[in-house]
Amino acid sequence: MSTHSAASDRSFRERLHRSLGDAYVIIRELGGGGSARVFLATEIALERTVVLKVLPAELTAGIDGTRFHREILIAARLQHPHLVPLLNAGEPAADEPHGAGSALRWYAMPFVEGQTLREHLQLRGTLPLHEALRLLRELASALAYAYAKGVVHRDIKPENILLSDGVAMIADFGVAKALEDASAEAVSSGRRLTTVGMILGTPAYMAPEQVNNAHVVDHKADLYALACVAYEILTGAPPFVRPSLRATMAAQVSTAPTPLTQLRTDVPAPLADMLMRCLEKDPRQRPHSATAVVKVLDGLSAPPVPPPVPPPVPPPPAATVENTPQTRTPLPVWLVAMVVVLLVAAGWWARG
Ligand SMILES: Nc1ncnc2c1ncn2[C@@H]1O[C@H](COP(=O)(O)OP(=O)(O)OP(=O)(O)O)[C@@H](O)[C@H]1O
Ligand SMILES: [Mg+2]
Repeated sequence: MSTHSAASDRSFRERLHRSLGDAYVIIRELGGGGSARVFLATEIALERTVVLKVLPAELTAGIDGTRFHREILIAARLQHPHLVPLLNAGEPAADEPHGAGSALRWYAMPFVEGQTLREHLQLRGTLPLHEALRLLRELASALAYAYAKGVVHRDIKPENILLSDGVAMIADFGVAKALEDASAEAVSSGRRLTTVGMILGTPAYMAPEQVNNAHVVDHKADLYALACVAYEILTGAPPFVRPSLRATMAAQVSTAPTPLTQLRTDVPAPLADMLMRCLEKDPRQRPHSATAVVKVLDGLSAPPVPPPVPPPVPPPPAATVENTPQTRTPLPVWLVAMVVVLLVAAGWWARG
């Protein structure tokens, strides 16, 4: 990555190699959102391709990893068709001294082949209503499942939504929370983090209460972020896009979003109402749960009565001599007449 000098990148990779041992071989770097680096790798034992997310040492060095570890254990128990599961994790041993050579924290997850919702939106702009409804239902059902297990995401955004054959899966569940805990610990211990702005959320999808105090948010902040994503899917942009991160965050706190129906007329009123309620500044005014959101979406995405389907038109029978007498071309009259004249002439000539 261009942001890493060659020397620091080499030392990072050596350290990563030591942290992973013989279990994984790195194939290539996929990128990273700023708070972590993400690699495609082969898991040797099972001969499968996985994605490894490696946390920056500056973030996790010196923290008491207990809270961090607990969040990851909870995330590891999540199993849902619309969540990217955690497969494995590695961290420094409890008695390992912190320093440039200590192990890095990493997570392994399945490689989801496809694209992120961000990439999909870059190609398509906005999505048709039926696709938007389906994606939102998938995402809300995953949130509802995770909340039932006591897990919030805290960084819902199009980059963390992976589409595999068009089906949505939320990535980084639990990881964002664990990172946030780590950053809270780092900040309270007086350490400065260059990546802190990236870790604490993404301004265009941040709930007002998250802007004010990132460490006290609950699942209502995820509902707010989900509505920002929905708004973007339907209109081409999240509710607040400002020239600077600070101005975007200020708008989240104090500017009313433009009603969805003003920007897109085919959005059904119950959907627009529900999304605008999710965008309320006061979390208590938002729907009380992701399950409530799923219910509204279920009411809308009930398949419409399909129009009568005409019976399939059978293919035309193969043209055979037996079944196509009407298609035979009759002999022209002049040809018949000529044959008759020739036969008569031949008979006359033969007699004479
Ligand atoms: N499980 C996965 N399968 C396939 N691609 C992935 C997977 N996880 C991440 N990626 C890819 O790697 C990119 C970087 O992921 P990463 O989570 O570091 O960045 P981000 O989502 O933009 O930021 P954040 O650190 O805030 O989550 C993603 O945008 C995606 O393209
Ligand atoms: Mg991510």
